[in-house]
Amino acid sequence: MSARLEDLPLRADLVGQTPYGAPQAPLPVALNVNENTHPVPQEVADDILDSIALALRDVNRYPDREFTTLREGFADYLGHGLTRDQIWAANGSNEVLQHLLQAFAGPGRSAFGFSPTYSMYPLLTRGTGATWVAGTRAADFSLTPEDAASQVDEAAPDVVFLCSPNNPTGTPLGLDVVEAVYEASRGIVIVDEAYHEFAPHDERSALTLLPGRERLVVSRTMSKAFAFAGARVGYLAADPALIDALRLVRLPYHLSALTQAAATAALRHAPVMLRMVDEIVAQRDRISATVEALGYTPHESWSNFVLFGGVADPARTWRALYDAGVLIRDVGIPHHLRVTAGTEDETTAFLDALASVGSAT
Ligand SMILES: Cc1ncc(COP(=O)(O)O)c(C=O)c1O
Repeated sequence: MSARLEDLPLRADLVGQTPYGAPQAPLPVALNVNENTHPVPQEVADDILDSIALALRDVNRYPDREFTTLREGFADYLGHGLTRDQIWAANGSNEVLQHLLQAFAGPGRSAFGFSPTYSMYPLLTRGTGATWVAGTRAADFSLTPEDAASQVDEAAPDVVFLCSPNNPTGTPLGLDVVEAVYEASRGIVIVDEAYHEFAPHDERSALTLLPGRERLVVSRTMSKAFAFAGARVGYLAADPALIDALRLVRLPYHLSALTQAAATAALRHAPVMLRMVDEIVAQRDRISATVEALGYTPHESWSNFVLFGGVADPARTWRALYDAGVLIRDVGIPHHLRVTAGTEDETTAFLDALASVGSAT
């Protein structure tokens, strides 16, 4: 006989909250959490295994608390003249974002994002005891510099999240919006570039805006383009002083020796790890074209997923796809569903199942 949550002395601000809960159903085609559905290439997997085996010899000792080699690897990968003292990493970019909120949000403070956006931002914010403030977007989910800056100016948050491109909509974000929001705010501005590698290759990253902006942070993850979601590795680039702030809140040795070894090895093979990106982008564009031909309205996407509208009854369509062995995501936007671009076969399975479900609105 176990107790109920109501019986426990839970923090008052957590009462009634729902945990993150994307379904993890064992379906043949899982396209619901924007993973890279291509496995790590064998030649890289072998090198990663060798590196883990080496790390295992010293696993009786605590790992390098400063994950120095890994930070150097990320600085090299990101380029833009970054050095390791401007890099931070943690167990997924979720933990990176949590460190930022622990250091710069917390009780009596607030974090702000333009809704709809990544569902973990409010959860992570409230987890630190801070208040979440939701801004708005245009009907096509885009943001203009003027509107974004005026909303941020009015809310005066301690932390602003700019998701670029935005999850769950795929919407690109102009660097002019980042600049305007930075000017309008006195807090930390986080540009979450979790899906940056899927954007057009000639697009500039917010990393180019870092010099001279000590409150700006650009976060990335190995979970998407790098096909490393299960290893849990995210990272960010920012001013060295901001990195020092994160040292105040992280757990000692938060990145295990095995994680550090695996991520460092994977980074050594970045071009091979990233070689499926173009193929995923091709499947994404195929999804957009095909769902449009089926009568739905796909939104422009610079990520590895597509949000499409015109769904008469999202719950019913989601269920029909589920019954056909295809798992996608109902993100709670009326008349919309979101699907991750999979391998060519997975994408075909999704498109065939959707076609057989029948009509858009
Ligand atoms: C916008 C965005 N940021 C961050 C994350 C977190 O990724 P991870 O914790 O796997 O690095 C996700 C995952 O879906 C995401 O969509």
